[in-house]
Amino acid sequence: MKIGIIGSGNIGGNLGKHWAKAGHKVLFSSRHPAELNSLVKEAGSNAEARSVTDTFEANADVYLLAMPFKAIDKIAELYAGEYGNKVIIDATNPYPERDGAIAQEVRDANYNASEYTAMKFGTAKTVKAFNTIRAEHLRDRAFRTTDKLAIPYAAQDQESGDVAKQLIEDIGFDALYIGNLTDTHIMDPEQSIYGKSLSRKELKELVNNVRVH
Ligand SMILES: NC(=O)c1ccc[n+]([C@@H]2O[C@H](COP(=O)([O-])OP(=O)(O)OC[C@H]3O[C@@H](n4cnc5c(N)ncnc54)[C@H](OP(=O)(O)O)[C@@H]3O)[C@@H](O)[C@H]2O)c1
Repeated sequence: MKIGIIGSGNIGGNLGKHWAKAGHKVLFSSRHPAELNSLVKEAGSNAEARSVTDTFEANADVYLLAMPFKAIDKIAELYAGEYGNKVIIDATNPYPERDGAIAQEVRDANYNASEYTAMKFGTAKTVKAFNTIRAEHLRDRAFRTTDKLAIPYAAQDQESGDVAKQLIEDIGFDALYIGNLTDTHIMDPEQSIYGKSLSRKELKELVNNVRVH
């Protein structure tokens, strides 16, 4: 698959490196693409650096949103219309102290952060994934054959869910389907499965337990 990474930091940088290693074509983007040289070098021949606009124009199959939550509005405003039929994997989290009023608004709203992204991207096939894992575990615990960590994901439709599951498994994590985007509250910051590094079995038990109570 061709994957466009929007925000090539802790999360986007490491996921991009993993996907490139797994054989995917990765376009890292930045507002300053020249600063991504060492990341691209580390990621190898499947990776390139581009501007954010060039990354969207490169017509990737999947876009990973891994920038601060406060940037969603602007990015959606610029690109959502044209790229609305793409799979968008949303790894962002709203943190009021970093992202300001919009993050507080979304935290206080009666919808989940992933539903906000889906709303902004209109017809995009939005998936919520990789937002609950700690950056150092994403970096260090990929490509395991035993003791795999589970990555929870939720999806708006079957196709985008299948893509996310594949991309989780391609880099040596187990995938756990949580439901559709209305079910993602438990994945949001400070909620029950946020920041939990667990096996698939443990995570499934926790999810079931939370849903019963
Ligand atoms: N760190 C974690 O443990 C963790 C875990 C799960 C999810 N998350 C979530 O994932 C997202 C990224 O976190 P991170 O830790 O990877 O952050 P990070 O290391 O700061 O990387 C974010 C990248 O986004 C780009 N960016 C910043 N402002 C932007 C804007 N206005 N428009 C476009 N790009 C912009 C920056 O790249 P340029 O300056 O090069 O453009 C930056 O490298 C956040 O929403 C975070 O809450 C973080």
